[in-house]
Amino acid sequence: MNIAVIGAGYVGLVTAGCFAELGNHVVCIDTDSNKINDLKKGMVPIFEPGLATLIQSNLLNGRLQFMHSLVALKVHPQIIFIAVGTPSDIEGSADTQYVLQAAKNIGEYLQQYCVIVDKSTVPVGLSQQLTAVIQAELNKRQQTFCFDTVSNPEFLRQGAAIDDFMRPDRIIIGMGLNSIIAKERMLELYLPIVRHPEKIYFMSIKDAEMTKYAANAILATKISFMNEIAVLCEQMGVDVENVRMGIGSDSRIGNAFIYPGCGYGGSCFPKDVQALIKMAETYDFDPLILRAVQKRNQLQKQFLAEKIIDLFGHDLSNITIGVWGLAFKPETDDLREASSLVLLENLLAHKAHIQAYDPVAIQKARQSFPPSWFNADRLQLVDQQYDALQNADALVLVTEWKPFCYPDFKRMKTLMRRHIIFDGRNQYDPLQMKKVKFKYYGIGR
Ligand SMILES: NC(=O)c1ccc[n+]([C@@H]2O[C@H](COP(=O)([O-])OP(=O)(O)OC[C@H]3O[C@@H](n4cnc5c(N)ncnc54)[C@H](O)[C@@H]3O)[C@@H](O)[C@H]2O)c1
Repeated sequence: MNIAVIGAGYVGLVTAGCFAELGNHVVCIDTDSNKINDLKKGMVPIFEPGLATLIQSNLLNGRLQFMHSLVALKVHPQIIFIAVGTPSDIEGSADTQYVLQAAKNIGEYLQQYCVIVDKSTVPVGLSQQLTAVIQAELNKRQQTFCFDTVSNPEFLRQGAAIDDFMRPDRIIIGMGLNSIIAKERMLELYLPIVRHPEKIYFMSIKDAEMTKYAANAILATKISFMNEIAVLCEQMGVDVENVRMGIGSDSRIGNAFIYPGCGYGGSCFPKDVQALIKMAETYDFDPLILRAVQKRNQLQKQFLAEKIIDLFGHDLSNITIGVWGLAFKPETDDLREASSLVLLENLLAHKAHIQAYDPVAIQKARQSFPPSWFNADRLQLVDQQYDALQNADALVLVTEWKPFCYPDFKRMKTLMRRHIIFDGRNQYDPLQMKKVKFKYYGIGR
């Protein structure tokens, strides 16, 4: 099939790369010309395991191309995916300007019937606006052919995106009842991936748009719920890790998304929970649970800094903190809404010296952290894991990257001034910490 994907971000690149890998001819389009020029040379601007190889091999075999605009397409695509960003606007709603601009670009370009599939997470009901924008452009050009609009929300997890895309739990497709050709094309596209038709759920477009928000909201709720239990456990002298295992083994509850920590981040959960709250407000509905989920997460992101201040006091000017992990989760370089940002901001406000390391996100951190954070030489971003611990008074583990699983405690002891660990992901065993003589602070233990 001939496919175009608009947006070369985390979702667009994975979508384009995977569909090309499966034998389709895919053109991926982005307005960021630097990004497109790099991608044409096989240089992938984001870190996602396996993605660079996937893109490079499909560039070589000619099934994948990158372009600046739809206009340059030689073959008319049967399906166009929209996978552009929908960040929070000033008020916290999803900013749909990029999606609507992509729709306008499609309307300016379309030459024949096409299925337009929205993969971006958009407010419920946006597809009507999206369809109207495309139609208006067709009218301007006096084009009378029709097109179908489909909602196909994406559920991939950064860090495991290719596997999630290639082996999805389900595919959600929202479309109009009369979109017969669109249904055929979506089935043709997705059946080889899922192999079981019952894994494809057809529903109305609004149902599909809401499914995406509800999915992210329930995952965020599980995390915030467990974080709340963890804080309570800490007050009560209970180890939340035992509680986690005790409840996770109940098949009605399950183990996923109940790991206590220093808050969720990333480009999806925070903005999608916020956008859902905003949507509810437009219906004069007060989403009590969603507000609590959000509030708990904001508090949880402060938790590590509070523990550090409790121990060392408010004046941290003589304290050096080593930080392991900046990305919002392991196996990605994405720093959007990462818990590390709140921690660093807090520690810098208390004049701490910080030596931070991340196996992959360090370059992005150098480019994207506010220049003021580097004033007075208080923040150093280091290239080696153990350099973060030189003369440090404490280590804070923020992101549970694999290389942090089995640290060399002997080496750490020789490097660090004091032997203290704040474990934001409950990665380490408190009993082992006692054995290796580190003072240990976890979350809810
Ligand atoms: N990142 C995730 O894990 C994830 C998972 C599921 C769903 N989503 C949703 O998918 C959407 C995309 O997310 P992302 O993280 O890939 O975004 P991103 O910010 O990484 O990438 C978006 C890309 O779109 C490009 N763009 C913007 N306007 C354009 C236009 N008119 N034409 C062409 N390109 C344009 C930008 O230059 C950018 O490269 C969002 O709605 C997000 O909520 C993201």
